[in-house]
Amino acid sequence: MTFRARHLLGIEHLAPLEITTVLDLADRYVDLNRRTVKQSDVLAGMTQINMFFENSTRTQASFELAGKRLGADVMNMAVAQSSVKKGETLIDTALTLNAMHPDLLVVRHPSSGAVNLLASKVNCAVLNAGDGRHEHPTQALLDALTIRRAKGRIQRLTVAICGDIAHSRVARSNLILLGKMENRIRLIGPPTLMPAGIGEFGVEVYDDMRKGLEGADVVMMLRLQKERMDGGFIPSEREYYHRYGLDAEKLAHAKADAIVMHPGPMNRGVEIDGDLADDINRSVIQDQVEMGVAVRMACMDLLARNLRLERGRKIVGTMV
Ligand code: NCD
Repeated sequence: MTFRARHLLGIEHLAPLEITTVLDLADRYVDLNRRTVKQSDVLAGMTQINMFFENSTRTQASFELAGKRLGADVMNMAVAQSSVKKGETLIDTALTLNAMHPDLLVVRHPSSGAVNLLASKVNCAVLNAGDGRHEHPTQALLDALTIRRAKGRIQRLTVAICGDIAHSRVARSNLILLGKMENRIRLIGPPTLMPAGIGEFGVEVYDDMRKGLEGADVVMMLRLQKERMDGGFIPSEREYYHRYGLDAEKLAHAKADAIVMHPGPMNRGVEIDGDLADDINRSVIQDQVEMGVAVRMACMDLLARNLRLERGRKIVGTMV
């Protein structure tokens, strides 16, 4: 097994072989999760702390379930009731928790780069559950697993990522992952929601959905991240849906067997038609949620193995 990372901060630092290692192991956890008895002891005796400084449904729930199914002691820090509200800095909070000897720290934060900074201050494994508009590595990995299971491969596919690219860490992590695995990537959305200089990334950029979807194998929709906008990015939601919202008519321009993805939370009638999102013949949105738990189990399992190795070496080192 090839997975050398000490933390999971972004896809940027992963080699294609490490990505495949996560996906292969996650496939095995999908099988475990479908059993009635889902328990494993891979993280037995270890402590996992989840720190979410931004709202989350899927990501927090699946990290919690993943840790519990692997036998870890899982604590969710209630940020809203914590000393963060009294002005304690992120680093002070992290150092306080670090002193309680967690083994895995799962962090979501609104500032890009905050999780990397935190990882440099603690001596446990840190998993980035989304930092600002920077990275969301477990989302890209679960998307990759969903695609690989639906299409039979994660290479040589045409993937259209549509909507609010500029504010999306999901888009950024997916771009990096899909690029590393040699796929053809198209970004579709209004020019106001495209990151500056995106042309240099080796992707094709469209502002017309029908043209951009032509021949796509995978159609990935994104939410308008209004919390990261300061107004004026789109004329109105109605107009946006008309031009960029995915419905059956626009999807007909993609390949006949194209799959529809969305990381959630979805805004029905804004970026996607509700009936299409629920159409189990086209939409793999619920599969993404299922893969999310398995991928997070795989990531924590691999990081815990590296942590044990590292600590083992240290103990041997001091004894000699
Ligand atoms: C995404 C996120 O938080 O970046 N959601 C998720 O993790 N499933 C996307 C979003 O908030 O739109």
